[in-house]
Amino acid sequence: MSSGCPFTGAASPTGCPVSAEAAAFDPFEGPYQVDPAEALRWSRDREPVFWSPRLGYWVVTRYADVKQVFRDVETFSPAIALEKITPVSPEAEATLRKYDYAMNRTLVNEDEPAHMERRRALMKSFELDELAHHEPMVRRLTQEYLDRLVDKGEADLVDEMLWEIPLTVALHFLGVPEEDMDTLRQYSIAHTVNTWGRPSPAEQVAVAEAVGKFWQYAGKVLDKMRQNPSGHGWMEYAIRRQKELPDVVTDSYLHSMMMAGIVAAHETTANASANMLRLLLENRAVWEEVCANPSLIPNTVEEALRHAGSVAAWRRLALKDTTVGGVAIPKGAKLLIVSASANHDERHFENPDDLDVYRANTADHLTFGYGAHQCMGKNLARMEMRIFLEEFTRRLPHMELVPGQTFTYLPNTSFRGPDHLRVRWDPAQNPERRDAAAREPRLSFPLGAPNKQDAARVVRVAAVTPLAEGIVGLTLEDPRGRPLPRWSAGAHVDLLLGEYVRMYSLCGDAEDCSRLQVAVLHERTGRGGSAYVHERLKPGDEIRMRGPKNHFLLREDAAHYTLVAGGIGITPVLAMADRLKRLGKPYVLHYAGRRRATMAFLDRLARDHGDALHVYPADEGRRLDLPAVIAAVPEGGQVYACGPERLLDALAALTADRPDVLHVEHFTATGTSLDPSREIAFDVQLADSGLTVHVPADQTVLHALRAVGVDVPSDCEEGLCGSCEVAVIDGEVDHRDKVLTAAERAENRRMMTCCSRARAGGLTLAL
Ligand code: HEM
Ligand code: FES
Repeated sequence: MSSGCPFTGAASPTGCPVSAEAAAFDPFEGPYQVDPAEALRWSRDREPVFWSPRLGYWVVTRYADVKQVFRDVETFSPAIALEKITPVSPEAEATLRKYDYAMNRTLVNEDEPAHMERRRALMKSFELDELAHHEPMVRRLTQEYLDRLVDKGEADLVDEMLWEIPLTVALHFLGVPEEDMDTLRQYSIAHTVNTWGRPSPAEQVAVAEAVGKFWQYAGKVLDKMRQNPSGHGWMEYAIRRQKELPDVVTDSYLHSMMMAGIVAAHETTANASANMLRLLLENRAVWEEVCANPSLIPNTVEEALRHAGSVAAWRRLALKDTTVGGVAIPKGAKLLIVSASANHDERHFENPDDLDVYRANTADHLTFGYGAHQCMGKNLARMEMRIFLEEFTRRLPHMELVPGQTFTYLPNTSFRGPDHLRVRWDPAQNPERRDAAAREPRLSFPLGAPNKQDAARVVRVAAVTPLAEGIVGLTLEDPRGRPLPRWSAGAHVDLLLGEYVRMYSLCGDAEDCSRLQVAVLHERTGRGGSAYVHERLKPGDEIRMRGPKNHFLLREDAAHYTLVAGGIGITPVLAMADRLKRLGKPYVLHYAGRRRATMAFLDRLARDHGDALHVYPADEGRRLDLPAVIAAVPEGGQVYACGPERLLDALAALTADRPDVLHVEHFTATGTSLDPSREIAFDVQLADSGLTVHVPADQTVLHALRAVGVDVPSDCEEGLCGSCEVAVIDGEVDHRDKVLTAAERAENRRMMTCCSRARAGGLTLAL
């Protein structure tokens, strides 16, 4: 075991507590280089925080733990983020000294409070309207590079495009003159090996030469820029800021930032783009889907960043004794937090190994880090990757990987992308040979996190079946006969019906992936979605659908279940009853409605759930006695309910003293539209990222957060689904959602940012 072993002297009667897998873990070769998420599956399953004797680091691999370490900068310092992971030899040290190499703190490895002061001082260049200035240049460069390739029929995309464009964009972004690309390219590889790799002692000297030259180059360019820092580049902006804030933006900082900035902006994006194209071309059906439906591009880029991100792992230093995932971590310990593994954690992402471009929570990935240090350039990177994908899917949809190639990676812990990516295509089939318009961009995308509303798949209506008075069942299938996604009891889909988007719970056979079934009540006073289904939809029609998603999850470990449905609320409840029966769990199902003729699924329920079923048609004088139903819930029992508001409110009141017992799903939102004349503006402090965000009277907290580049997932944006929940640290919330129970509202610990606001004063959120 290497020195630095935290267990030395520990009283361990069985000897060394390091498991065989932990002892064998080597991030510089073998499985981790091929696929870091797969290589650490054993760890996510069995030992999510382990000591790696070879690395001398604690390795953290589950989503929740990696996020916790990223966000808690008070306990886990980023100071070692750029430290050389392999100790430098004395010869290499001497070489670096020869070049006066003095790479110091930048942003990414600076502690608070200095870091946040600097981040705020330099943030402006990354705001969305500033980034918009770079978009025409990225598009033009991409088109020029593609023009050079398009008639060749074969290319190494890394060598011929994906490396150089992000480098040029990075230099433009910084304001550096475009010169000597090839040398810079060698320099930045050297920097990666120097920081995150394991060079041999001989290689170390060569690497140190290149790093030293890179350092000097960065200094020269900086001096040149200082003479006239009037341009739009980030460095020029930083030089101007230095005049106003000399103690915040120091000389040493500017020099380090110059060098680190090129690497941060360049290799990360080049690698991410190569990973994305490889992943899509290896999943041909997904590639074709994106070619056919380019509105999927923003979500596809995000899913690629999740599935095969270009930053696989990051580092932190424990400033005090603490615990991560229940494991004691001593003060001074170094942590390798593996975002590539977290991004494949099934505890956070459903079917995490699938490449699902419709995935609703894909932007939760940790490839950009999280919290105070979260990547400032993420929206520039997203913009580049979206433009690359839009150009390739339009101009070379028939492109494929050259078969049989082996992908090699620069051995290092953190930066990940193939050295080469060889593709081929038949130029005679290029769409632009048939139609010159195919050369022109079809779409540009709003900057920022992807808009989930766009990630909708096309489904065909296979059948429209009357189920009861005013209720029809829709059977949906894939137009090309492909399997539809798996779903779990309580899940719903969003149907995009003309101008309406409506949530419908799934109520068919969850095991049958060839079709999905929903039931739709014709709501005469509703907002139009149900009228669209009842009056216009017919078999053969194609509509767009998002999901399945589940915000009404059935916990499967309860001792007993009480299911309560009112009217059309039977749909998710039916799926739950089916699931419980399959699991062999004890349950009762109470189903209330106006008349039998208006109650869907009565025959099926009687057939499949007869023993557990209690039906209450009001016109027969049978009343659902809710107090009795709740009184009968046994110890360890859970209640799941869906139905009209008054039913759910009554249940909430009856279970107020047992807050963990009741789970409900609402179908209708109230009060989510904003009337600026009646709302107040307020400020939100973000504790993790140190920002203050102003929320005007006509904007939601969610939109105000997005405008400053803070990504909060959202889905319904109507206070129904719970996706936009954030933790509240301070301030009084005016809750307007349908997700939280009365007890949860009173606790004031969480809020839905899509609709809830501050009552008076501001709010402090854990973001
Ligand atoms: C920080 C990843 C592109 C500028 C980071 C961090 C990661 C990361 C993991 C550290 C986060 C943390 O500690 O929580 C990526 C990836 C990119 C990318 C995967 C491309 C796909 C860019 C670009 C730029 C950039 C294009 C500049 C234009 C920065 C800066 C920081 C940073 C300035 C430091 C932020 C701070 O510490 O406050 N990035 N990055 N990055 N990135 Fe990126
Ligand atoms: Fe659904 Fe806010 S996005 S509750």
